[in-house]
Amino acid sequence: MSTFQAPKGTYDLIPPSSATYLAVREAIAAPLRNSGYGYIETPGFENVELFARGVGESTDIVTKEMYAFETKGGDRLALRPEGTASTLRAALEANLHKGGNLPVKLWYSGSYYRYERPQKGRYRHFSQVGAEAIGVEDPALDAELIILANHSYRSLGLSDFRILLNSLGDKECRPVYRAALQDFLRGLELDEETRRRIEINPLRVLDDKRESVQEQLIGAPMLRDYLCEACKTYHEQVRELLTAAGVAFEDDPKLVRGLDYYTRTTFEFVHDGLGSQSAVGGGGRYDGLSEMIGGPALPSVGWALGVDRTVLALEAEGITLDLPAATSVYAVPLGEEARRVLFGKVTELRLAGVATDFAYGGKGLKNAMKSANRSGARLALVAGERDLAEGLVQLKDLQSGEQTAVALDAVVDEVRRALA
Ligand code: HAM
Repeated sequence: MSTFQAPKGTYDLIPPSSATYLAVREAIAAPLRNSGYGYIETPGFENVELFARGVGESTDIVTKEMYAFETKGGDRLALRPEGTASTLRAALEANLHKGGNLPVKLWYSGSYYRYERPQKGRYRHFSQVGAEAIGVEDPALDAELIILANHSYRSLGLSDFRILLNSLGDKECRPVYRAALQDFLRGLELDEETRRRIEINPLRVLDDKRESVQEQLIGAPMLRDYLCEACKTYHEQVRELLTAAGVAFEDDPKLVRGLDYYTRTTFEFVHDGLGSQSAVGGGGRYDGLSEMIGGPALPSVGWALGVDRTVLALEAEGITLDLPAATSVYAVPLGEEARRVLFGKVTELRLAGVATDFAYGGKGLKNAMKSANRSGARLALVAGERDLAEGLVQLKDLQSGEQTAVALDAVVDEVRRALA
């Protein structure tokens, strides 16, 4: 192992491709900010108990994938595997739900950690942008979130994705379904581990990818046939609102999701160019989570979109984002006096809001111009002793090659005019 190697299942974001990650985060965040969601940031780790109770004692995330550890002080902590439990915990701690202004709408962006088997699109450290709307049961809120995620993906130019939609029922109808499903599953030829799963989390068996299991699942009772009237009506309203908004979706009665807190609406955004790790985002309603972690009843809904997989989706569709060059002006001094004067101009330009960089390290003209071109700058500001003696600098358009002499004290104005 080399010292210069990132840990297994992780990778670094480095320029220039890191700019795409920032742009993806921004594209997901912008519609949220525009729709009443406020920014929240919570710690990278929490008490392990929060996830055990929130995400679910029997989920893969908690049993196999959590980075749990004991601190020197004896606290049992875990690196956060997801953002919903933390966000709800923070909202409850700050009493945001008591302000008489429900729903509490929050968005976040950050790193999450799961000890999974790494492969393309599945990492041990990954990045999500998420949104949670806490404290209101209203199908329009579910629809809003799905519409916003759809909007984000479209704004990035993505089109090769589908929205899968399901309802997981509520505390009235799901237990009845669960019992019926368990009865059915107990009669099948399944391995030890899957048999155990029937008792703990039978809905997850429906998600089993193995063909031998899927074949036996034909004829399994379906949750949609067990939904109570309230859940049916609610789901129908979500569907109608999405249709009215022109957002296409597919009903997927088998969509179960890997976290235990979901009730009613669940959805996943899947991208068809990604192979096995095709879920670029997912979410749903979690009406019981607050009570599961010791809070009051607060019906809520949210989603998280994976930044890493969204970037892979862009690649799969051959989309290059049209990102503005980071640098607009590149200053090239020739000689000591020019270094002093141009460095001052660089500071002045930056204060005036012009993205400017400087040829550091006393490079010769040829090398410095190479760096100028590489920076993506539109303009180079070149000055040697003779220019300075006349109170001038050369402003060179790096595309056309055209060069004009500009008075030193007019540099900021001239640069602005040339960039406009
Ligand atoms: P999740 O489906 O576990 O949901 O994760 C959401 C997204 O995070 C996935 O669709 C995927 O793009 C990305 N993701 C998850 N694990 C990995 C990984 N190992 N490597 C790369 N990307 C990954 C949640 O986390 C819920 N908290 C969503 C939610 C919010 N539900 C309600 N509110």
